[in-house]
Amino acid sequence: EDEDYRKTIENYEEIVKTLPKGKGWMTDHLVHYKGFWLTPFGALKGLMLIREHFKAKPGDIFLTTFPKSGTTWLKALIFATVNRTRYDFSTHPLLKNCPHDCFPFLDAYINENQPISNLDTLPSPRLFATHIPYPLLPTSMIYSGSCFVYICRNPKDVLVSKWVFMNKLRPKELPPLSLEEAFELFCEGISHYGPYWEHVLGFWKASLEYPDKILFLRYEEMKKEPLVYLKRLAEFFGQPFSPEEESEGVIHEIIRLCSFENLSSLEVNKTKVKRFNNQLVIENRDFFRKGKVGDWQNHLTSEMIERLDQITEEKLHGTGLTF
Ligand code: A3P
Repeated sequence: EDEDYRKTIENYEEIVKTLPKGKGWMTDHLVHYKGFWLTPFGALKGLMLIREHFKAKPGDIFLTTFPKSGTTWLKALIFATVNRTRYDFSTHPLLKNCPHDCFPFLDAYINENQPISNLDTLPSPRLFATHIPYPLLPTSMIYSGSCFVYICRNPKDVLVSKWVFMNKLRPKELPPLSLEEAFELFCEGISHYGPYWEHVLGFWKASLEYPDKILFLRYEEMKKEPLVYLKRLAEFFGQPFSPEEESEGVIHEIIRLCSFENLSSLEVNKTKVKRFNNQLVIENRDFFRKGKVGDWQNHLTSEMIERLDQITEEKLHGTGLTF
């Protein structure tokens, strides 16, 4: 196992040197790999290890997102739904742990130098999150009998959310990243796992092709009708809520537990940090900002709105997906 890992890492070190570079939003630059912009160390290395060493199993659940589209919320909702008979709402793990602790990123397991075989001992269904774009996922994962949930969000809200978030993560010695600069990078597609539009479209098209394997959700719709979509999620996992659960208020309990208001007010999410690796340590409270639809209206200029809308229209034209 060690030897195989070493080979992948050597291969990564060779490839990464050859890739075009783009300006990063934090410190590091991004690299352009097979059409997408990735952080060299975290994302590209993780991706190569996953492609060569990870084996998905039937029953695995993957949460796939473009960053800042609602990953934290969906992690909480999925974790609470698939484990609903395991935990009591008064002592629920989500009351004491950040959603990212309950439902980790696949890349994190693989980058932490743990033997990958440890993943076999995880309880079923295994829950893995990833930002990897659809075209870069290993085909073995797609045909493994596992299922995928994708959540997408209006690009204007994604941009604003990401701009604020990245400024929080930027080292204090650096000047803040201006909205103008963030806007340009985003429009050019140079953002983590971007271009945004190619990311969304990859999963959108795949969800039309394999509707029973890929559930495509939208942040805005989930905010409007969480009950409808939570039921859909549970059905998608083959664990629909029973009439008894409905009458006992289980669905409402899950929605309340995972709501922005509840999660962001918990001690763990106000004071603790999430250590993704030695370089990436994030304060849990930075995962919770406003949790609203349409905050872009408070930040973007009319020129920015027009240009972003135009790009979105062009990229999504004829795909059946609109914002
Ligand atoms: P805002 O910055 O617009 O507030 P991700 O989890 O993919 O990083 O996305 C972060 C966005 O989701 C942030 O958006 C954050 O506030 C919002 N968010 C976090 N928890 C949420 C929840 N429980 N319900 C709704 N939105 C949530």
